[in-house]
Amino acid sequence: MEKKMLFPQIKGLIHGGDYNPDQWLDRPDILKEDIRLMKKAGVNSVTLGVFSWAACEPVEGEFHFEWMEDIIENLYQNGIYTVLSTPSGARPAWLDAAYPEAMRVDDRGVRNRHGVRHNHCMTSLKFREKTAVIDQMLARRLGKHPGVILYHISNELGGACYCPLCAQKFRDYLALKFEGDIEKLNKAWWTSFWSHHYNSFDQIEPLFANGETSVMGLTLEWRRFTTANMADFMEHEIRVLRAETPDIPVTTNFMRLYEHLDYRKMAPKLDVVSWDNYPVFHNDWESLGDTLAETSFQHAVMRSLKRDTPFMMMESAPGLVNWHPVNKLKRPGVHRLSCLQAVACGSDSVQYFQWRKGRGSYEQFHGAVVDHNGSEDTRVFREVAEVGELLRRLSPVAGTLCRPKAALLFDWDNRWAIWDTRALADSTKKYEETCLDFYRAFLRLGVDMDVVGSEEDLSGYRLVVAPMLYMLQPKTASRLTEFVNGGGQLLATYFTGYVDTDQLCFLGGFPGDGLSELFGLTSEEIDTYYPSDRNGVRLADGSVWEVRDYAEILKVKDARVLGVYTGEFYQGTPALTCKAHGQGRAYYAAARSSASQMTPLFEKMLAQAGIPAKKLPQGVEYHERCAGEERYGFYLNSTPNPVTLEGVTGLELLTGEILQGGLALKPMGAAVVQSFLR
Ligand code: GAL
Repeated sequence: MEKKMLFPQIKGLIHGGDYNPDQWLDRPDILKEDIRLMKKAGVNSVTLGVFSWAACEPVEGEFHFEWMEDIIENLYQNGIYTVLSTPSGARPAWLDAAYPEAMRVDDRGVRNRHGVRHNHCMTSLKFREKTAVIDQMLARRLGKHPGVILYHISNELGGACYCPLCAQKFRDYLALKFEGDIEKLNKAWWTSFWSHHYNSFDQIEPLFANGETSVMGLTLEWRRFTTANMADFMEHEIRVLRAETPDIPVTTNFMRLYEHLDYRKMAPKLDVVSWDNYPVFHNDWESLGDTLAETSFQHAVMRSLKRDTPFMMMESAPGLVNWHPVNKLKRPGVHRLSCLQAVACGSDSVQYFQWRKGRGSYEQFHGAVVDHNGSEDTRVFREVAEVGELLRRLSPVAGTLCRPKAALLFDWDNRWAIWDTRALADSTKKYEETCLDFYRAFLRLGVDMDVVGSEEDLSGYRLVVAPMLYMLQPKTASRLTEFVNGGGQLLATYFTGYVDTDQLCFLGGFPGDGLSELFGLTSEEIDTYYPSDRNGVRLADGSVWEVRDYAEILKVKDARVLGVYTGEFYQGTPALTCKAHGQGRAYYAAARSSASQMTPLFEKMLAQAGIPAKKLPQGVEYHERCAGEERYGFYLNSTPNPVTLEGVTGLELLTGEILQGGLALKPMGAAVVQSFLR
């Protein structure tokens, strides 16, 4: 596997962030100072043009790119490259005044008034036309500049519009999907229930809050349509840019496990995946190590959207943010640790929002590399400059990839189906938290996981965990079966294989679609507990895992029983099973236990999969990147204590020290160890 450099112009990792010189055009002194400070902070790229529509087209049809051109050129002359954003994240006032249809309609059918951002109708032909015009001008005027390395589409695409245009597009989408046959839709949506039968596609409405919310098929299709329409808008922008400058790669910034868009459907249309990382550091509900582990999970989601190329951390806060419920300062050292974590997990960039704090408006108190005092003599600036220097030392890492042998299965459709279904208990469904819980337990064992979709080819993995896989897509069961038959170790849990891709229940026993054969069992009933209810699973060695929230009652056909319930009327019945298929094994955990209690099972599965686990102290993360024979092991200590690890050899890139068997990590310390496979 060769290195995949994102941008050949930048020999190492990318360091920079959102730069808004359009807020300072009357202050040439500040713009000049920015360049000096960027060089001092080791910045080699900035993101320009996010939200700058009004500066580029102040009145309809009158374009001003000269200021941006000067800035791009000046940056370039100083060794700083530009990520050029299309300005469609916010509309200028003239546009809404002339074309009110560009303003989004909410889920009660009320049209927004002009203002704020990220609130367009993605269907509006006028909005698309105006976006195309500005994008074309932008690409024509600036796209060929040698300083421009990447296009960034809009900003944080999100939400949905419920206007008549969107409603009609939804109907067209359904008509296409169901081949123009309304009876196919009626069947798939089980509309004989509650007299929900439709006579024609014209009768179908979006998922209005005060409308039809009880047809599971409609709910899910509306969510799928929202993604399709957003992706279509994104592609519309991409097409315009590509027509002018086909060689410039394209990204857009995703938002963690954003609820409303299935990023797995959007990522293939991009050249690079990027995302915005704003963890709630130092909160009052978890340790710093847990916050970082959650962040690592989010990185893994992004990394796995395009496994054969590094991703980018497009935004993060240099200091604090201004929109968390409590905006606490990042404690010394945390910035360094979280930036190195992004690289450890496969990012080739550390980028910030924002370079310089604006004087006014909504984000005037959001953290920035340069504060209102304009000084480089601040804690935040020093920490950013330190990161700049560390990233320079990590240049050899650029273009390498994380290639875990373990994967966690997470699906947006499944997530939506679990949210919407009227089953279990809303307060304890916790699909995302359950996935994270498993991910974190493996991370504690020094094992990274990719986060993959339920129809992906799993052949590159040796171990797969598929929590709460309630919905099976058409290929899911066959993928999982192939995986196990090929020698893979699979763990599934309660609430697996209940419904198909239309949310129709499988008949003949859960898990459906042939999975009951794979696991050697069927699940006859699922018990939902009150939050204070407890049960247990007793294993052969006498240990007991605590059970909360959910417990299925199984009928085991030909699987080995590894654990049984300790209580309830189903006491003594199977709760943990395994069915072997050659070297492959299909494990089934029928009840919810914390992943940390299940760790001995994971250790066993890892050994069976031939994946080495590491004994890491609590609060220490390990990640690995590689290319060819090069290996980079990242050790991150989030605790206030020094930590010593045995058996670590290689060149530590941050200090230049040669390690011959031991690594001493300072409190909040990190190390990146280069080694070579022989
Ligand atoms: C991001 C957004 C930026 C900025 C930032 C503040 O979500 O893309 O424009 O608002 O948040 O944290």
